[in-house]
Amino acid sequence: MTNGIPLPRREGITSRQAHADLPADTYERELGRDGFYGPATHMYHAHPPTAWTGWEGPLKPRSFDLNRLTHSSGSPWHAVEVLHNDRVRYRFWRTAGRMEHLVRNGDGDDLLFVHEGQGAFFCDYGRLAIRDGDYLVVPRGTMWRTEFDGPAALLMIEATSDRYRLPDRGLVGAHAVFDPAILDAPTIDDAFRAQQTPHGKREPWRVEIKRRGRISIVTYPFNPLDAVGWHGDLAPVRLNVKDIRPLMSHRYHLPPSAHTTFCAERFVVCTFVPRPFESDPGAIKVPFFHNNDDFDEVIFYHAGDFFSRDDVRPGMVTFHPSGFTHGPHPKALKGILAPAKPATDEYAVMVDARDALEVGTLPAGVEWEGYVDSWHADAKEPVAAVEP
Ligand SMILES: [Fe+2]
Repeated sequence: MTNGIPLPRREGITSRQAHADLPADTYERELGRDGFYGPATHMYHAHPPTAWTGWEGPLKPRSFDLNRLTHSSGSPWHAVEVLHNDRVRYRFWRTAGRMEHLVRNGDGDDLLFVHEGQGAFFCDYGRLAIRDGDYLVVPRGTMWRTEFDGPAALLMIEATSDRYRLPDRGLVGAHAVFDPAILDAPTIDDAFRAQQTPHGKREPWRVEIKRRGRISIVTYPFNPLDAVGWHGDLAPVRLNVKDIRPLMSHRYHLPPSAHTTFCAERFVVCTFVPRPFESDPGAIKVPFFHNNDDFDEVIFYHAGDFFSRDDVRPGMVTFHPSGFTHGPHPKALKGILAPAKPATDEYAVMVDARDALEVGTLPAGVEWEGYVDSWHADAKEPVAAVEP
């Protein structure tokens, strides 16, 4: 079923095609609903919509330097909650070495994203090697623990009372972006069997179960990760960002929704990976100004050189609550039609949440207080971008 052929209205001076061939000396803004899928208008302004000179009140763009969260813990339930609402919990967990107990999340699926570190993930279903750049979808109720070779840092994105799904790939089909066959599941291998009795005998194990945000501890006289086999279509899956083959068009700057990797009912997770810039002379090459009026937007910068902002570094987060227009940093805007290099070189994880996010209690110095002013053409280097 369709709703027929849409016939947009046009007023004043405009381009004929969004994100391309902008009228001279204009700044294009997308006013959009439903996260780039819904009704939208493209408006052509005489000034950049981010050129504000004053800002008062609780709504503002915010940025956090998670490199400054140095607390390390052997339990993911001690991860620092950076942002949250009733349907998503966005946490940052630093750990090292081997977890000495199991955990189980009774509140929802967890999406782990390994920002730093390399090791193994043991769970009901077996073992998976994990490394930086890996996403790991952990179904609600799975018992698991990690063994890292050294220090590790992970994002943990809980789909509260929900489960993760893959997005509908629509016209490009199910095998675009990444083939579902590339998703790896745990295997029952020698390392998995060996961890059941690490010293050649049964030993007691604790399981820390999180339910409604509270922890209960269940003790077994043996390691309950003792499956000898399983079959079904429910299991943790692993996907590395380097296995994502991004959608692109050489003539059209695709919206962030083209980069959706996982969906939950009330938020999506998108991944930005390196890709060539658009080559059509009239196509814009950096993100367009927009107000994504139904979503709060969170971007975690994992690795690379971030083309829409020149003042963030790996480990930083930007948080753009719904309610105002944002867009490229002034220095990036200079390359809107002629970028300095042929391709992007960034890996970033974005969460777009339909429900308003609250900021957690964070140690002093983690938030970059001057972020709201960073769109000024003469903005100084951020305090947060200096090595702590
Ligand atoms: Fe945005």
